[in-house]
Amino acid sequence: MLLLITVASSFFVCVQAAPSSQFVPVGTVEDVHYATRLWDAMVRDQLEGESRKNNAPFFGGAKPHGEILELSYQNLTLGAHTGFIVVKRNYGKAGESGVRGVVTVERVSEDRTRYLDSITVMFQREAGFDEDHQNWFWVKYKPDGTLFTKKVEGRLTALAGRLLKSRQGADNSGCIYCHSSAGGGDYIFYSEIIDYMNHQ
Ligand code: HEC
Repeated sequence: MLLLITVASSFFVCVQAAPSSQFVPVGTVEDVHYATRLWDAMVRDQLEGESRKNNAPFFGGAKPHGEILELSYQNLTLGAHTGFIVVKRNYGKAGESGVRGVVTVERVSEDRTRYLDSITVMFQREAGFDEDHQNWFWVKYKPDGTLFTKKVEGRLTALAGRLLKSRQGADNSGCIYCHSSAGGGDYIFYSEIIDYMNHQ
């Protein structure tokens, strides 16, 4: 009987001690706060907001569901830190016809607000933030600067932070996992961005 109780209690302890998540915490209070400050800095630098500087929208992403996109990239200062930022505006899927009409590059150029779905951002943070992945801070904003949320391991999570860094080596998911396939170890797909980053 005593043995049974011992076995049962050690099993209980074992379950309790198991890591609750495969990933390091994301969408934490700190991440959300940082994402809010980052948005303010993006508005200050006219990367977003009412006095935003436009770039040319283009057809990008993988066919056949390619999206109309717009890119901005530069150095950005947030507090004591200056890092490289890439802002990708995602308008509708090319050719998609919905309540807002068929999405084309021309229409997006004429009325960006109507077609903007999301803004995905990579910001290179200070050393030590995520040394395994070039210290990139990943965020997915709604057009008004608030954050998208998604269920991560059953919990509704704000999309900001180390998305999704595994606790076990290279077993990542989300933004980090997919951007690892960009090659070159910088997590960036567009070669023009890499060139710009390396020559400034
Ligand atoms: C399934 C793969 C995949 C996932 C997941 C993904 N991306 Fe990307 N991302 C791409 C590809 C492919 C490109 C280049 C083509 C394009 O723009 O669609 C890209 C481009 C970008 C760029 C432009 C810089 C670059 O890499 O050239 C940013 C910024 C970006 N993604 C942010 C994010 C963020 C933030 C997330 C997570 C919320 C994310 N991405 C998730 C595949 C992915």
